[in-house]
Amino acid sequence: MTTINDHFLKLKAGYLFPEIGRRVNAFTDSHPDAKVIKLGIGDVTEPLPEAIREALHRAVDEMGDRDSFRGYGPEQGYSFLREAIAENDYTSRGCDVSADEIFVSDGSKCDTGNILDIFGTDNTVAVQDPVYPVYVDTNVMCGRTGQADDQGRYAGLTYLPCTAENNFTPEVPDHPVDLIYLCYPNNPTGAVATKETLKKWVDFARSNGSIILFDAAYEAFIQDESLPRSIYEIDGARECAIEFRSFSKNAGFTGTRCAFTIVPKTLTGKKSDGSSHSLHALWNRRHCTKFNGVPYIIQRGAEAAYSDAGQQQIKELVQFYLTNAKILSEGLSSIGISVFGGENAPYIWLKTPDNMKSWEFFDHLLDQAHLVGTPGSGFGASGEGYFRLSAFNSRANVKEAVNRIKTLMG
Ligand code: MLT
Repeated sequence: MTTINDHFLKLKAGYLFPEIGRRVNAFTDSHPDAKVIKLGIGDVTEPLPEAIREALHRAVDEMGDRDSFRGYGPEQGYSFLREAIAENDYTSRGCDVSADEIFVSDGSKCDTGNILDIFGTDNTVAVQDPVYPVYVDTNVMCGRTGQADDQGRYAGLTYLPCTAENNFTPEVPDHPVDLIYLCYPNNPTGAVATKETLKKWVDFARSNGSIILFDAAYEAFIQDESLPRSIYEIDGARECAIEFRSFSKNAGFTGTRCAFTIVPKTLTGKKSDGSSHSLHALWNRRHCTKFNGVPYIIQRGAEAAYSDAGQQQIKELVQFYLTNAKILSEGLSSIGISVFGGENAPYIWLKTPDNMKSWEFFDHLLDQAHLVGTPGSGFGASGEGYFRLSAFNSRANVKEAVNRIKTLMG
């Protein structure tokens, strides 16, 4: 009989967000009149900016004309988009990233999982704890871990606890690790990294021959100009880092789907004979073999994010969600809840009141206030006793959510 990939059986029951969805559906089935407000998954709610919509319409019209119709595009992305990204996100900030080091894709979730195809299964892995679950689950799926313990920590992974004590920014490990996942601004804690912090990671990676997988999906939320938006703002990062970026959270593309990954041509990994090989070449091979490119129409929409009007509208969108974060943060603080994040990130990370366990608080909020958040323990053992609220919602819902929490706990 055909065998299965047994490693999947090590995974904890369900992916976090579907599990939340299951519990919410069970609640709404039994309380059909409840007006549930969802601040759980970080999914945008506000419409696509006008400049992007106009570009999408124009591209649809091009596809309706024989002369401008396009079939398969370059797997790596059209050069108009790759060049716009290189210029606006990198060159203009003094980063050395060229258009042909950019791979346009359908999402950072997919990219952070897919990138593992090009690395040996014998590599050791470090993750921040709490952590975006995709990094861990995709390593479990491809056999890079043992079984999970009672707290959900998989054998073989190095967990870097992020707690209030270390300001949710862990130090580098005291032993070498091959692959290091870093996410700044952080999902779920909302913590940010300074240039000094990232420099320590780059130095650590270079001295150990490690690769940093840097998830910068939330960089647009950085307000403090002294903070790095890309790991390539750090000297030496081209020798040790791959960066993931997305149009989902800044330009409202969660349903539209467009992202990109930077794999510098200067990056190498070790072959089994000990010699080195280009990671750019491997990722290019993988991308072209398993992916047919993001639709032309969508790439034109993404390109419009870099027009003057697009930049202005995106800025307004980001400010809208950051104001939501401020309302949540101030409202919760005013009733004595300890709140973190939310200043350079769209997530509020809070300490659960009365030392409630994360899932206990989830059920309490859902039952009593008809509010949905994300239990911190769902992101890792160090998230136990914490809870995440997403700022991605309408202003009215965010204000109503704060009122309900105040009524319940104030
Ligand atoms: C989250 O809620 O953590 C995000 O929506 C995850 C994602 O973007 O996939």
